[in-house]
Order: sequence, then structure tokens, then C-alpha cells
Amino acid sequence: MSTSPSSLPWLFLFLFLSALFRSSQADVGSAAHYSPPYLPTACRGSDPSQFPSSNLFGSAGEGIWDNGAACGRQYLVRCISAPVLGTCVPGKTIQIKIVDRALSSVSRPSRKDTTMALSTTAFAAIANSSAKFVNIEFQQV
Ligand SMILES: *[C@@H]1O[C@H](CO)[C@@H](O)[C@H](O)[C@H]1NC(C)=O
Repeated sequence: MSTSPSSLPWLFLFLFLSALFRSSQADVGSAAHYSPPYLPTACRGSDPSQFPSSNLFGSAGEGIWDNGAACGRQYLVRCISAPVLGTCVPGKTIQIKIVDRALSSVSRPSRKDTTMALSTTAFAAIANSSAKFVNIEFQQV
């Protein structure tokens, strides 16, 4: 297969678009939810001062746990899709703080092996809370 001169504009368009998407640095993953009692064991114990007053927090899945470095990290999270149409709250982005590890959280996530498990308040802010999980776009801030 040879590169004809007429394909060059497309090549530039492709390079431009890939640069554009890389610069947004958002990743795609999934989010479950977990319920009280919130008794983190993996990060700073149950120190109440680690919880944001907004109650927008979550526990890290293994993909972002980063050997414990995830503790205290903040992410922008947006619901992008779910098995049931209409589950996502359209256009809603929240900022959450990681306070625990999903693998070992006392209260178990609604689904295993998601990118993160969100507090009930956080999950309900971006999706119908009767869903077990949703697909998300997330980005560390
Ligand atoms: C949430 O999902 C449930 C189950 O699919 C559905 O019955 C309910 O109407 C939904 N609620 C909203 C506000 O969309």
C-alpha cells in the first residue's frame, strides 16, 4: 500500500485529532457504589477529617490504587453510559476524593473490579442510584 498525495490532508487531520484527545488526558473506566458505614482501613483509617464535606468520595479500584498513592487523590468523574439507557445524569461532572481501597473496603462495592467505587452521594449525583455500575470518564486533578 502506497501513500498517495491525496491522503496527506487526512494524515494531518488524524495527527491533529490524536494530539487533541491526548491533551484532555481523561480516561474511560467504570464506577460502582458502596454504602455506609464508611470505615476506611486502607488509607488514613477512619479519620473523619479525610472525608470531604460534600460527601463526594470513593474507594480506588486496583487499576488506580497505585500501591496506596491513590489515597487523597481527587478525580473529576462523569457518567458516560450504562447498560440501562437514561441511567446517567447528562452533563454532570463531580470531583471526588479517594479515601479507601475498593478491594478491602468494609462496605462492599455494588460490583467487583470497577475503576472506583463511589459513595452513595457521589454515585447518585451522576447516575440513577439503582444502577449497579456505570461507565465513566475520569481525570485526576
Ligand atoms: C432508576 O432506575 C430504575 C430501575 O431501572 C427505574 O425504575 C427508575 O424509574 C429510575 N429512576 C429515574 C429517576 O430515572
